[in-house]
Amino acid sequence: MKDEQIQKLIEQEIKCQQNGLSLIPSENYASKETLLAMGTPLSNKYSEGYPGKRYYGGNEFIDKIEKLAIERAEQLFSAEHANVQPHSGSQANAAAYLALLKPGDKVLGFDLKAGGHLTHGSPVNFSGLTYNFSYYGVDAKTERIDMAEVEKIALEVKPKLIIASTTSYSRQLDFEGFSKIAKKVGAYLMADIAHIAGLVIAGEHPHPFPWCDVVTTTTHKTLRGPRGGLILCKKELAEIVDKAVFPGTQGGPLDNIIAAKAICFLEAQQPAFKDYQHQIALNARAMAEEFLRQGFRLISGGTDNHLMVLDLSDYDTKLIQDKLDEAGIYTNRNAIPNDAKPPFNPSGLRLGSPAITTRGLREAEATLVASLVSEVIKKTEDPEISKKVKEQIKALAEKYPIYEDLN
Ligand SMILES: Cc1ncc(COP(=O)(O)O)c(C=O)c1O
Repeated sequence: MKDEQIQKLIEQEIKCQQNGLSLIPSENYASKETLLAMGTPLSNKYSEGYPGKRYYGGNEFIDKIEKLAIERAEQLFSAEHANVQPHSGSQANAAAYLALLKPGDKVLGFDLKAGGHLTHGSPVNFSGLTYNFSYYGVDAKTERIDMAEVEKIALEVKPKLIIASTTSYSRQLDFEGFSKIAKKVGAYLMADIAHIAGLVIAGEHPHPFPWCDVVTTTTHKTLRGPRGGLILCKKELAEIVDKAVFPGTQGGPLDNIIAAKAICFLEAQQPAFKDYQHQIALNARAMAEEFLRQGFRLISGGTDNHLMVLDLSDYDTKLIQDKLDEAGIYTNRNAIPNDAKPPFNPSGLRLGSPAITTRGLREAEATLVASLVSEVIKKTEDPEISKKVKEQIKALAEKYPIYEDLN
């Protein structure tokens, strides 16, 4: 690169990813093929519209790429229709809402304070500012979603849309149960499976179809593709969903990213992807068991998916995240249900297994990583703790390398 400053910083970031371990449940390592597609001149094209109906010329090959991506997405998710253009998970949600709702319409979503996402009605987000959100949370004792409570709130509120989705929740979602409630109150049902898309494809988590009208997701978390979004829906909603993406919420699609999405969908159709997702679940369980053995409390007592949330109410989670950073373990401090502490220094630490599983770590190594995290949490006052743990993390990272040919 001619721009040496940026080249150096990119190299440093790659080294950081190679030498450390990401336990951030929303992160993963996309394949080299996916990365290559993102860095192609496809990025130069303007192709507002859809295959066969573009507002710009010269889209012969772009049309073929987008059609392939759509076909693969529909196959992969057993969906009647796919829109592969959303730039991100948040953009996918914005378009889904625009398709189904008018400003001020009532929506029932999972409370941010219980583990929901900003785009599910946070008052500082476009969703909460535009639509009239009510929330369901988790049961105070079990810390799980209580479907009877969801039904009670739905009957009271009578929302036009119910959203089944979480971002910091370690249990499975009962899409069939949500569908029964939505039918009862005459609401659309949407699932945002941004976190669990890979698990869904592999049968490690219940499928949102045929229960949901619209399904949104990111393509970069458990799905392990490029950074991006995707909307899947029933055929009768195809037209309004497409219109809501373009011209409703976006201009020209990112054609390089759509090519990378097509590659990621093909990768996710391979038998090895199923094994990968199963291993994600096994590794998450192994980590959770180790944290329990170390005496920590996990929200809801464990995990059924790819992530877990440690209750560290008695600790300084910002300090812990910083100490773990120094040790080369990347984590995400997060609120716990009804957290008494502020979002910048909350009571929880959210950890997940997708990225370490991509590197090839299995249960024994996942257990070791959880024990090293535990050691850092318990010994933050030891000035040498991060340095000591860093050596072991580096050894693990070298044993399970990523992007070797980028060196
Ligand atoms: C459930 C859920 N939906 C949407 C998003 C937003 O995705 P993006 O960061 O691509 O906008 C996230 C991201 O963390 C998420 O967890």
